[in-house]
Amino acid sequence: MDELRNGVLILDYGSQYTLLIARRIRELGVYSEIWPCNDERVTTLTADSAKGVILSGGPSSVHIEGAPKLESSVLDLGVPVLGICYGMQAMSHALGGSVESTTSREYGRAEVVVKKPVGLFEGFDASEHTTVWMSHGDSVTKLPEGFERVAETTNGVLAGIANVEKQQFGVQFHPEVSHTVEGARFLENFVFTQCRCDQSWNMRDFVDSAVETIRRQVGDTGQVICGLSGGVDSSVVAALLHRAIGDRLTCVLVDNGLMRHKEVDRVRSIFEGHFGVDLRVVDATEEFLSRLAGVDDPEQKRKIIGEVFIRVFERVAEGIPNAKFLAQGTLYPDVIESVSIRGPSATIKSHHNVGGLPEDLGFDLIEPLRELFKDEVRVLGRALGLPADMVDRHPFPGPGLAVRILGDITKERLDTIRAADHIFIDGLREDGHYHSVWQAFAVLLPVRTVGVMGDQRTYEQVVALRAVTSQDGMTADRAYLPMEFLGKMSDRIINEVPGVNRVVYDVSSKPPATIEWE
Ligand code: XMP
Repeated sequence: MDELRNGVLILDYGSQYTLLIARRIRELGVYSEIWPCNDERVTTLTADSAKGVILSGGPSSVHIEGAPKLESSVLDLGVPVLGICYGMQAMSHALGGSVESTTSREYGRAEVVVKKPVGLFEGFDASEHTTVWMSHGDSVTKLPEGFERVAETTNGVLAGIANVEKQQFGVQFHPEVSHTVEGARFLENFVFTQCRCDQSWNMRDFVDSAVETIRRQVGDTGQVICGLSGGVDSSVVAALLHRAIGDRLTCVLVDNGLMRHKEVDRVRSIFEGHFGVDLRVVDATEEFLSRLAGVDDPEQKRKIIGEVFIRVFERVAEGIPNAKFLAQGTLYPDVIESVSIRGPSATIKSHHNVGGLPEDLGFDLIEPLRELFKDEVRVLGRALGLPADMVDRHPFPGPGLAVRILGDITKERLDTIRAADHIFIDGLREDGHYHSVWQAFAVLLPVRTVGVMGDQRTYEQVVALRAVTSQDGMTADRAYLPMEFLGKMSDRIINEVPGVNRVVYDVSSKPPATIEWE
């Protein structure tokens, strides 16, 4: 919370763009943090908590029963407030304005005319046109007292409102998306001219303040268990904790039998060698595989894996006095895809370290990356001195190969997918494609197909290869890998991995698909 004193708080009303607001502000060199709009901490905010507040857009309508509300105390803090789309409507509603569904709404791209160059529009010429991305929401039809209309679309639809004296502003469009041509200028006006934030934030500051927060949370005697998977996130968390509390950190590498080729050896050599941390490797393969036997539902798999991980950590903690903290590499996208203010129906996947935790968790959680996106975590990893080879690795999901084997998980099927994945990833490295894709992996499908090998009929399994490009994992495109390369991978997998006679390439994007198959 400390960094927030010099930064901007974003209250999330469920917009798919909320994350972009945070990024844009951090890109301006200002710290920004996102809280759910119904976060209990909202009622305890004071004028010193943040330099300004942004209310995000959202899918709701203020008239719908149970629509997320704006805690009115936020408008009395005396700090600048910007409502974007639904945020503007919620603010107007809270201040006594009227919000209605009208027929004159505009969708997508629109031209905005500045009527009065104040607030977000400061520095624009009155009557200047600029292209923005409009929202789909209702419209504010009567402005709250003290507000004036400062921008509208060329069709006369209200686009911007301002109460200059109270420093409260609203826009019906999304300044955070790249289609809004002057988006950065609007946000700069809010962040610098109105909120008077300093351009002082960078990843090094994040390291310092995260270290301080961890020390405060853990106290002088607390011990922390950190689950290490060898992926980017948990490695960065471990390095951060090591810096904060030194040898009061115990890293636990759980060999759950669901890891990639030689992963356990790799992680051991990097962490013991590079950092000298206390690393315990626990072989829990049997426990995981017996609990997963016969389970083919993806959510069920994630929940079981989340629970068994915790049971293993609890056993390790029993031997360490005062080990009541558990550190995890939870990222912001894991949080929004797992829990949603819109209720369970909008949960996409229970990322195992968020939605998959057992209810009787006996640890206090430490999640220093909860506000960050993957590419920001990589910058953080570099600032902490982690080797490039580790920081630039593809993401690997906590539930490991379990969500890449569709259907039953058995030792045999794990060996099959591990071998195919190894060939694919090695091939990407050898042919220079590894760093041009965000993530790549092999998936074992629950079907068999007919093939012919050396005049013999075969009836064997199918491996799907998946490679995507992305910036943050929230949206992704299929990677356009050369067909020649894919053909080479197919030949190698079918020839070298017993039990596979067909390889396919997944060409779907996210959305509508997700990156992982489960
Ligand atoms: P999806 O499949 O949801 O994945 O498009 C987005 C990113 O998140 C990773 N992922 C997970 N990571 N626990 C994790 O730690 C999980 O349960 C999980 N599920 C997906 C996925 O690999 C991709 O990078």
